[in-house]
Amino acid sequence: MISGTCRASLTASRIVFAAVGAACIAMSSWVCWAEESVTARPSFSDREIKIILSHGPWPVPVAHDPTNRVSGKPDAIEFGTLLFFEQRLSGSGTKACASCHVPERNWTDNLRTGVGMTELDRNTPTLVNLRGQRWYGWDGAADSLWSQSLRPIVDARELAATPRHVAGLVRDDEQLSCRYRRVFGAPPSPTDDEAVFVNVGKVLAAFQETLFSGRTPFDQFRDALARGESPSSLSYSTPAQRGLQIFIGKGECTSCHSGPNFTNGEFFNTGLSRFEPLRKPDPGRYAGIRQLRESRFNLVGPYNDDPTGASAAHTRQVAMARGNYGEFKVPPLRNLILTAPYGHAGDVETIAEVVRLHANDGQHAGALNLTPREQTDLVVFLESLSTFSNPWRPDDAGRCE
Ligand code: HEC
Ligand code: HEC
Repeated sequence: MISGTCRASLTASRIVFAAVGAACIAMSSWVCWAEESVTARPSFSDREIKIILSHGPWPVPVAHDPTNRVSGKPDAIEFGTLLFFEQRLSGSGTKACASCHVPERNWTDNLRTGVGMTELDRNTPTLVNLRGQRWYGWDGAADSLWSQSLRPIVDARELAATPRHVAGLVRDDEQLSCRYRRVFGAPPSPTDDEAVFVNVGKVLAAFQETLFSGRTPFDQFRDALARGESPSSLSYSTPAQRGLQIFIGKGECTSCHSGPNFTNGEFFNTGLSRFEPLRKPDPGRYAGIRQLRESRFNLVGPYNDDPTGASAAHTRQVAMARGNYGEFKVPPLRNLILTAPYGHAGDVETIAEVVRLHANDGQHAGALNLTPREQTDLVVFLESLSTFSNPWRPDDAGRCE
């Protein structure tokens, strides 16, 4: 006979588990027990609750970027917004940052790899929640948001422009040069192309720093736990709670995807990184460190606005090491629903496929070997870190007088 407990859990999940339920009636009681454990809410230990709380609160309050003197300035944000959508920034006059980082696509393009003047070899990352990160790009080749914003302008595959082209545009266009003067207190230098170019990177960064993703079902759950409410009384779904428990426990995901933005900001070689069927190997962080050290625009260079020099410490310490070959930055996991496909090469089309590849990649201490159900729970949890699509477009900035 079916037990009372089994009957109760059957009612709660009648449709999904109808088949198991039938077996439960017809067969022995351990089948009933198995069905019950599928629907049971997990209980969280104090240690687990502590880890869950470390993934918030959201949004995170962050200070201005000391390396960028116009960070947080309203005039700079407005100017940066205009330039982000400005096709004349590109050498051909036909591409803008927003051609690949499309607002309605959560600031990516939903393509496998970005397409500018030609196709790139990496997936276009979203631009939300970038503020305060230490390294930028899948390979960490930039150490500030403003220097990362200069890279695509001069990359022949992206906007294919030059500092001279950019400085000329800002000098010659009356509206752009008026805005430049407003932000920097002086007109664009008539001779120093590079100084004008770097300042364009700084206003682009000021704009991107304002892009945050919204609060998610996970954040509601996390904050309720912080207030001391019991997980069993909360509306966060049972599979999401189970997925969360795997994420912070057996799955060991938190060791890399830590904190409110679900990344520790570091670089690793994972099974996902090696999943590059038809490509030549991407050196990842190995080449990124070399580019970073060679760049005139890194934080050790002359354009860092931080007078204390403290912000350059990490860049100074970075040394090229063989072990960095094939490593990629741990991506944040918010708003994944909106940013397919996944991984640095964009080879992986669904969240379920990421979890399947990534959860069995032997990167972790001991083999993970998550069961299919555990993988599904993880996917449900990852989906609960998303908000809805973003319909944002800039307001008309009006004329600069
Ligand atoms: C042709 C498509 C394309 C264009 C145009 C483009 N990007 Fe990107 N963006 C990418 C790709 C691909 C990456 C990843 C690059 C890498 O890791 O090597 C990227 C990376 C970034 C990042 C790093 C994000 C992170 O998580 O570290 C920032 C910031 C960024 N782009 C800003 C911009 C800005 C600002 C512009 C305009 C000046 C721009 N992009 C133009 C495709 C593009
Ligand atoms: C050793 C560090 C590490 C651990 C542990 C780890 N990840 Fe990752 N994760 C990464 C790195 C690095 C990437 C990017 C790999 C690439 O593109 O080559 C990534 C990529 C992802 C992506 C794709 C995101 C995107 O925007 O493309 C998802 C989803 C993800 N991980 C989820 C998980 C889950 C779930 C777990 C636990 C089962 C986990 N990760 C454990 C380092 C880690």
